[in-house]
Amino acid sequence: MDFDADTFRRQFPILGSKNRFDKPLIYFDNAATTQLPECVIAAMAEHLRTSNANVHRGIYGLSEQAEATYESTRRAVARWMNARGPQEIIFNSGTTEGLNFLAAQYTSLTAADEIILFVQEHHANILPWQRLRAAIKVVNMAESGDFDAEDFGRKLSGRTKIVTVAHIGNVLGTINPLRRIGEMAHAAGAIFIVDGAQSLSHGPLDVRATGCDFFVTSAHKAFGPTGIGFLYGREELLEGFRPYHVGGGVPEQVSFDRPATFRGIPTRFEAGTPNIVGVAGLGAAVKFWQKIDWNGVQSHGERLQRRVLEILGDNASVEILKPGSRRAGIISFTHRRAHPHDVASILDSEGIAVRAGHHCAQPLTKALGVNGTVRLSLAPYNTAEEIEKLAPALQKIDKIFPGK
Ligand SMILES: Cc1ncc(COP(=O)(O)O)c(C=O)c1O
Repeated sequence: MDFDADTFRRQFPILGSKNRFDKPLIYFDNAATTQLPECVIAAMAEHLRTSNANVHRGIYGLSEQAEATYESTRRAVARWMNARGPQEIIFNSGTTEGLNFLAAQYTSLTAADEIILFVQEHHANILPWQRLRAAIKVVNMAESGDFDAEDFGRKLSGRTKIVTVAHIGNVLGTINPLRRIGEMAHAAGAIFIVDGAQSLSHGPLDVRATGCDFFVTSAHKAFGPTGIGFLYGREELLEGFRPYHVGGGVPEQVSFDRPATFRGIPTRFEAGTPNIVGVAGLGAAVKFWQKIDWNGVQSHGERLQRRVLEILGDNASVEILKPGSRRAGIISFTHRRAHPHDVASILDSEGIAVRAGHHCAQPLTKALGVNGTVRLSLAPYNTAEEIEKLAPALQKIDKIFPGK
């Protein structure tokens, strides 16, 4: 049976609401955050009602219950990502923290070392690396917007210590060929890091098949709550890492006489009271992912994306950025006369929520030669009827900003 977006959609209570202009909410800002299904919301409420206690500390039932949720979620995430085991999964607040954690492990790099980034990266995958002493090389995109293997090959060398790339770009939705990038990075002797912020709402991802050394992501981009995410790291690399934050939960021995000793992985990296209710929500999100017909979701997404590109292409005032790119339901465009913020405001007045601006990717905006874009990002709960609302809304923009 075909994927039924209407049935899928009914699981998300917020999607039945109206926006501030009393228009039914059409939510096309899924690259910023996705909405939560009732089962995830309920799991968090249930956790707070019945199992709220701290983890790793209590010797009483409630704490053991909270701990069971926490550690079973770690195991479920490990299985979903095809990690070698739960020791390779570290909970954190999300992609941004994961990338800061990783950069903090490489402070010994010197000015003779190089880190390779890609022009499409989100600020979260640029700024932590700029804090290090290593030189940064930036790989351009091909004319189509896709991965430029030649430029990458030119920039890779024996000096490259780290290659870090977004699996899916958050502005153009470009899908990067992880396996290929990883093979090239490893052949040069570099560590290969994947920013997976946009990955998990598009289907299962086998981290071992991608060949990455580290993968970071945020639950809120894939039907989970905000403030929780995880880092996958190869066990032998994690074993060599220092604790990132220190405090409760991570040491074995603490005294005023000698340096502290620390627990093993992954606990060594989870100092302080973690976001336990967030982990409960992530656990419910993993169960939700397991039930999704991902092939159906993919065909549905491709159909919607094609129609969005058609509608935008039919409007002479609109310019789609890098329409040739292999993209994942994220489409950026500009209007020849209206500023992206004006476009987003007018779409909002029609109930359509999109993002406008640089999308935390200022180097890419500059490379595209624009002052910002309007970004429309889809999720499986978006429907063909919602997409059709786009054409009249764009006509309204044309009326407000008429051509000569
Ligand atoms: C590609 C990419 N990387 C990193 C981030 C940062 O994610 P978070 O704010 O959840 O840490 C985002 C968020 O939009 C993103 O799209």
